[in-house]
Amino acid sequence: ADVFTFDPGFTSTGSCESAITFIDGDKGELLYRGYPIDQLAEKSHYLEVCYLLLYGELPTVAQMEDFEGRVTKHTMLHEQMKNFYSGFRRDAHPMAVVCGVVGAMSAFYHDSTDINDPWQREVATIRLIAKLPTIVAWAFKYANGQPMVYPRNDLSYAENFLHMCFAVPAETYEVSPILSKAMDRIFTLHADHEQNASTSTVRLAGSSGANPFACIAAGVACLWGPAHGGANQACLEMLREIGSVDKVGEAVARAKDKNDPFRLMGFGHRVYKNFDPRAKVMKESCDEVLGLLGIEDNETLKVAKELERIALEDEYFIEKKLYPNVDFYSGIILEAMGFPTSMFTPIFALSRTVGWISQWKEMVEESSRIGRPRQLYTGPTARDYTDVAAR
Ligand code: CMC
Repeated sequence: ADVFTFDPGFTSTGSCESAITFIDGDKGELLYRGYPIDQLAEKSHYLEVCYLLLYGELPTVAQMEDFEGRVTKHTMLHEQMKNFYSGFRRDAHPMAVVCGVVGAMSAFYHDSTDINDPWQREVATIRLIAKLPTIVAWAFKYANGQPMVYPRNDLSYAENFLHMCFAVPAETYEVSPILSKAMDRIFTLHADHEQNASTSTVRLAGSSGANPFACIAAGVACLWGPAHGGANQACLEMLREIGSVDKVGEAVARAKDKNDPFRLMGFGHRVYKNFDPRAKVMKESCDEVLGLLGIEDNETLKVAKELERIALEDEYFIEKKLYPNVDFYSGIILEAMGFPTSMFTPIFALSRTVGWISQWKEMVEESSRIGRPRQLYTGPTARDYTDVAAR
């Protein structure tokens, strides 16, 4: 008989070797290529972090200029892709649209789908990082019934994304430096997270030799679930549903009740059992942004603060090592920026694209075997087919 380890949920399976991201869950440590996440969030910026994740080292000035130039050159989507959008219902969830459009990139850009050609792999990588903001912003515009706004290559990555989301033809739109800094930080904090569900999905899809656009579409699909990237939307919806500070105790009691499936969204993590270092930075960013925007009095924020306070003092949450994760705070910032909850997970997808493609690239360059988990079969033993008349 075959011998293998039974590990549902892969809690103790290392699926690959990787030199990209390091997590120490007990210490609450997250490093991108050795650099602590808090230093990167404070001193670096998203495109520099993309370079670091992709190529392993921080860029020199010349390398950064070259990289930024290449990304900027690819921000436009093929004009024909607009027709692709109009095939979707207006009220479709933007994640559904993003998943479809990213998958469709392999139909529009086949000159970068040969995974055995290093140059094509590089072009696909740059195209994905450059076009995801456009794809996500256009999903937002389409849902709003507004004309798509073309990328502006004189703006930074974060500024350009905000511009494509919030500019409307009849009005002048100036990107606020507070918001673009917060946006850049959200992108940076979500850029990679080693072998999480969506990244493992991208690697598994890629292990069959599928093209990078198809693999990233698989990652988008996996990210959508509320236990993963969908938690930021679910968290804000939960805060709104709780509604007022006096209802927080009730929600915490429900989360502790074994017979109630309700969970506190934005709490807990498979790997971080001490604290989520991304949440620490995001919380600071959240306080800063709301302060600068002058909206500390927001009811959702009050509920969030009270929930955080009660849960952090509660035996159940202490014993199970459940802390607010990155999505607990990111949703609050995104709401303050003016995004509807349906846009939260697409923004996570756009931020994580660099992590997915870095991991895909690493895997392809190291020519791994196809990923093929085994199972414990629990069905019937072999039996003879019965004719329909005899059933
Ligand atoms: N609220 C209440 N109880 C919880 C929660 C929660 N948010 N999370 C875990 N628990 C309990 C759970 O009931 C279980 O209790 P018991 O041991 O008595 O059965 C125990 O804690 C361990 O939970 P688990 O489901 O075995 O842990 P996991 O590692 O499989 O799941 C998780 C991790 C993140 C899916 C889970 O904590 C969760 O569902 N959290 C809410 C969703 C969320 O915020 N997800 C975003 C994760 S961070 C962003 C990302 O990387 O995508």
